[in-house]
Amino acid sequence: DAKHLYTIVVLGASGDLAKKKTFPALFGLFKNQYLNRKTHIIGYARTKMDRATFEGHITKYIKLKTNEDKAALPKFLELCSYQDGQYDRDADFQNLEKRMVEVEKSSGATARLFYMALPPSVFIPVATSLKKNNYKKGVVIRLIVEKPFGMDLESSRQLAKELGALFSEDEIYRIDHYLGKEMVKNLMILRFANVIFGSVWNRHSIDNVQITFKEKIGTEGRGGYFDEFGIIRDVMQNHLLQILTLIAMESPVSLQAEDVRDEKVKVLRFIPPIAKEDVLLGQYTKSADGKEPGYLDDKTVPAGSKTPTYAAATLYIHNERWSGVPFVLKCGKALDQQKTEIRIQFRDIPGNLFSNLARNEIVIRVQPNEAVYVKMMNKEPGLGMKTIISDLDLSYSSRFNDSVIPEAYESLILDSLNEDHSNFVRDDELDAAWKIFTPILKTIDRREIDPVPYAYGSRGPAGVTDFVAKHGYKRSEQEYVWPQHSEA
Ligand code: BG6
Repeated sequence: DAKHLYTIVVLGASGDLAKKKTFPALFGLFKNQYLNRKTHIIGYARTKMDRATFEGHITKYIKLKTNEDKAALPKFLELCSYQDGQYDRDADFQNLEKRMVEVEKSSGATARLFYMALPPSVFIPVATSLKKNNYKKGVVIRLIVEKPFGMDLESSRQLAKELGALFSEDEIYRIDHYLGKEMVKNLMILRFANVIFGSVWNRHSIDNVQITFKEKIGTEGRGGYFDEFGIIRDVMQNHLLQILTLIAMESPVSLQAEDVRDEKVKVLRFIPPIAKEDVLLGQYTKSADGKEPGYLDDKTVPAGSKTPTYAAATLYIHNERWSGVPFVLKCGKALDQQKTEIRIQFRDIPGNLFSNLARNEIVIRVQPNEAVYVKMMNKEPGLGMKTIISDLDLSYSSRFNDSVIPEAYESLILDSLNEDHSNFVRDDELDAAWKIFTPILKTIDRREIDPVPYAYGSRGPAGVTDFVAKHGYKRSEQEYVWPQHSEA
């Protein structure tokens, strides 16, 4: 149960994020009774919209699967309203204030959650306007902010400074939506609630760790935005680094937010900046059949851009647990499949009792089809002593087939209403993350690394296989496919 009754304001309500993620997540919480029935939601943005257009916009991505869902929607919409206004005009924020006071009179809400689903250019103007016009002493204020949190260490620090002058760290919730994903939340439990994993989780047993993010789609429609950032800022520096942190950190003293975040910061500080020779970049071209466009065919992408749409980078953690173990992060758009997974590969078995052995692997599939499985050697059934690769398989679709896996945004918005910061990024954590990535990003921005072309829909740039092999990953000689997913 949330400590306070909130009024929620979604700034940037006419945008893509609000439509695709924020409103569907709020509806998900509402229909499952996680949102107090008196919680009002006010959308705010520059676009002028009548009621019908607003409702059409915020419900476009809401999936109504059951009759209960259908019955809940009109009740949810009763709580939602829209107000247009500029992002830097006090009079407009005063109007918002009037509306908030009005709904608070009827709901009795004493707390305010401002969800900033905004482009970075209006970030500070909006925060300034909110502070000036909608911030009241004695009222609990929460601010959810979305990446990009700057472009590099300096701009991130500048943003932190400007935001920090307006709101306290306690009031700020920096979203990395990967922290709301079921499997990512499972990592601490897998590691710290299982003796069998805990005791092998180190350089003595683990040879290398692969964290992979693949998407089938290209930058369709977002080329302009994407080109300024590139895949490393878009996915690797945040989502994949968060996964790495949870895999590598020491056990926190407790599950309290600051204890967890202290450990995350600590492990990040053991990681030196990524070296140029530990990076492989790619950029997609037309698909082999010519049907899908290349990155540079996108009209919003500047001609001759060298922005990577694929990147592989190896990070090292110079502490006692991980020294010498490569953590290979790989991410790309316009690839052969959609998949996010963590693959922890163990060392070779010493001795020569058996031949043709494959290494053990623990694979945590974040999406789609959540699963944890352990690749291991087994005796091939029958006469003789032949070895065969098999697996211990925890596929969620068979083990937890009645459970509904919540959307990442539902989980995180609920955390913020409960004032739990553990799955949000702290200011010093962001700083530590930028320190690891800024030098290599500057090298890339200076166009000193040429991205290797790869066809839309392929496995990525040629050289990926050699890159992971160079950083320790050993492919098994025996043919092995995880039965649940032939593409595993
Ligand atoms: C976002 C990136 O943060 O994450 C997108 O900006 C990417 O480019 C998305 O597509 C992936 O999220 P998910 O939840 O679909 O894996």
